[in-house]
Amino acid sequence: MTSLRATFLYLLLVTSLWSKPEHIIFTYMGDPSTTLTVNWQYIEPSSMIVSSGEKASVLFDTVSRGGDVDSYTYSAKANNFQIDGLSDRLILRAQLTGLKPATAYYIVVGDEERGFSKELKVRTIQEDDSPLRFVTGGDMGTSEDTRILLRNSATFDPDFAVIGGDIAYANGDLLSVNKWDTWLTYYTEEMVSSDGFSIPLVMAIGNHEVDGAYNKTAADAPFFFGFFGQDPAKSYFARRFGRDLLLLVLDSGHVATHQSQADWINATLTEHSSVTYRSAVYHVPLYPSHRDFMGYYSDQGREYWAPVFDDHKLTVAFENHDHTFKRSYLLHNGQISENGMGTLYLGDGCWGRDARTIDFVERSYLAKTGSIQHFWVVDVAPEEMIYRAVDIDNRVFDVYPRDKPGVKAADEVFASINQFYKIPDGLIDILDIRHAVEPWQSGSSSIIIQNPFEHDISLSFSPRISRGNLSLEGLPIEPIQIGPGAQKVIAIELFSKKEDGIKLEDFRAMISVDLDLLDPDFPQPLKFAGRYGIVIEENDAE
Ligand SMILES: [Fe+2]
Repeated sequence: MTSLRATFLYLLLVTSLWSKPEHIIFTYMGDPSTTLTVNWQYIEPSSMIVSSGEKASVLFDTVSRGGDVDSYTYSAKANNFQIDGLSDRLILRAQLTGLKPATAYYIVVGDEERGFSKELKVRTIQEDDSPLRFVTGGDMGTSEDTRILLRNSATFDPDFAVIGGDIAYANGDLLSVNKWDTWLTYYTEEMVSSDGFSIPLVMAIGNHEVDGAYNKTAADAPFFFGFFGQDPAKSYFARRFGRDLLLLVLDSGHVATHQSQADWINATLTEHSSVTYRSAVYHVPLYPSHRDFMGYYSDQGREYWAPVFDDHKLTVAFENHDHTFKRSYLLHNGQISENGMGTLYLGDGCWGRDARTIDFVERSYLAKTGSIQHFWVVDVAPEEMIYRAVDIDNRVFDVYPRDKPGVKAADEVFASINQFYKIPDGLIDILDIRHAVEPWQSGSSSIIIQNPFEHDISLSFSPRISRGNLSLEGLPIEPIQIGPGAQKVIAIELFSKKEDGIKLEDFRAMISVDLDLLDPDFPQPLKFAGRYGIVIEENDAE
């Protein structure tokens, strides 16, 4: 009796510790018209995981069965596995094949012992030329802004979503799995269409998916490969959506080099040369809007990919990583295409992260930029593709092509958004600290400010000294105002906080500057910002 009761209590305990299916998310390992990949997880103590998962499956049908597990016509067995070192969960994945295009499927996932999920519905993509819509962007993270922007994007009822890297910002670190849990909760809860359909997802890899960011291996991106069924072996692949859209999903140097993908890109674009629209999504932009044009990975992209894109007249590339909004001119060979045959580059990844500064004077290759959190809504139809950028208030603020309905209203929204500009080069110069000796004790420098504008500027300064081993004196406490064309020099002193000084290699000092341009043509000051490192020059023989 006692042992029976103990067994009963044990079973009760075990089954109560078993978790329900969580993070149910749809991806594509195959043709989006006829296959769907269902991914989910059991998050529970590791001792529970050992024998479970073998019987898990997806039950599905083309009509709703209301979660009555005996009524579903089709089933697919799930594979289960764990990520090495991540003992708190079992990952499940099932591949549904032989599906009908443009069809609603009603599904539950689970097993008989644990029970099944509530019924979800999801649609396959059409294989004909009927209109198709997707949303895209990148650089998300787990802030409330990400959640709101996801919710906004679902209101457009996209057929699928495409994320161009930097998703949960877990950096491939198993200890940061909670970031993925938050992100997956946001996605699965918010990315549901107005008529209740879950929105499948395509993802490109970004530096924040990878422990080490660049030039690593798939093992360094455990969540990207482990949580989502896409291509099990490679970080780059292609998918065809309907008759008219090819999407290349590329890796901008994270676990595969640009060079290593060039031949495959060429072969894939050759194979699909008859597809009306040929597009690509990847993380690091070839044509950046915030970072340096000559950044190594941007440069690699222009060296190895841009000529292939040009050869095949790539329709559009969705770029990310810079945390801004941008729309390029149609570009060919790095120049503005005169005959309209160039590639459009849209970006630059700000689907949740705070917006970064843009240039006050637009870069030659960029038609429009903004420091604006956003995502893109893309409509694909046989006669045209239309791109709309949408902000956190769910307002369309950019439309392309420029002769489409809604352009004027979008431009009015754009004009009402306050931008955040990068302080122009040469406006601020910080002199190097010279004659350094090791261990270093103290030194002086100067901030030289030259106002190039035709109006007053107001500047405020704050020190950024990461290691706490330095102090910086002399920065103005109150904002300072400088007239048009005028110059000002501010003397600053830096000291080691350690009595016996610090090594030169431990010297890290920056100054953040916020600048307001007081242009009377604008109701608000125009906002600029910049960060300046203070360089310590070693005492070389003169
Ligand atoms: Fe990034």
